[in-house]
Amino acid sequence: MNVAPFVESPQEVIKKMLQLVEPKNGELLYDMGSGDGKIILMAAKDFGLRCVGIEIREDLAKRSMAEIKRFNLEGRIKVINGDFFSVDISDADIVTLYLTTSANEKLRPKLERELKVGARVVSHDYEIRGWKPTKISKDDPPGHTIYLYVYDPLKTPIKNESKFNYSD
Ligand SMILES: C[S@@+](CC[C@H](N)C(=O)[O-])C[C@H]1O[C@@H](n2cnc3c(N)ncnc32)[C@H](O)[C@@H]1O
Repeated sequence: MNVAPFVESPQEVIKKMLQLVEPKNGELLYDMGSGDGKIILMAAKDFGLRCVGIEIREDLAKRSMAEIKRFNLEGRIKVINGDFFSVDISDADIVTLYLTTSANEKLRPKLERELKVGARVVSHDYEIRGWKPTKISKDDPPGHTIYLYVYDPLKTPIKNESKFNYSD
């Protein structure tokens, strides 16, 4: 199910998103809806991450694969041309999102089912309703908001909006 149109994150926004998650060398990042591959390329090239991009549109997946090849990054980046709702992301250290608020809402149960404690989710412009951000970066770069979440099932979901019960 395609839940968001293709609009690429500007380079300076991607840089800020990746700085906010404080990546450690070799960690695994998933970009949910990886478009033409801008996030996964910078994450692998400049931050030493291993990356998986999941992109539903074949033309975009192919375009990103060509770029990955051009930079000789096939050993570090994999692109799956498919629907991110059906890809297991339980080994993710970092998840990047640039979708919509309603798409994040649809994705939230999957994140809660699969993410390990301490996984970081960073979302460009759209919050994950029902989760409490660890950090919000506003207007840096100007006009963009970046939400950082550090996933902890006991703390992240807000009471009554999730399968987790806060009062336990
Ligand atoms: C706003 S773009 C973001 C592209 C890239 N992540 C970035 O920030 O530059 C959203 C992308 O998600 C893709 N997409 C939407 N629904 C998807 C799904 N269910 N599975 C995989 N990709 C999807 C769209 O085709 C589009 O390329």
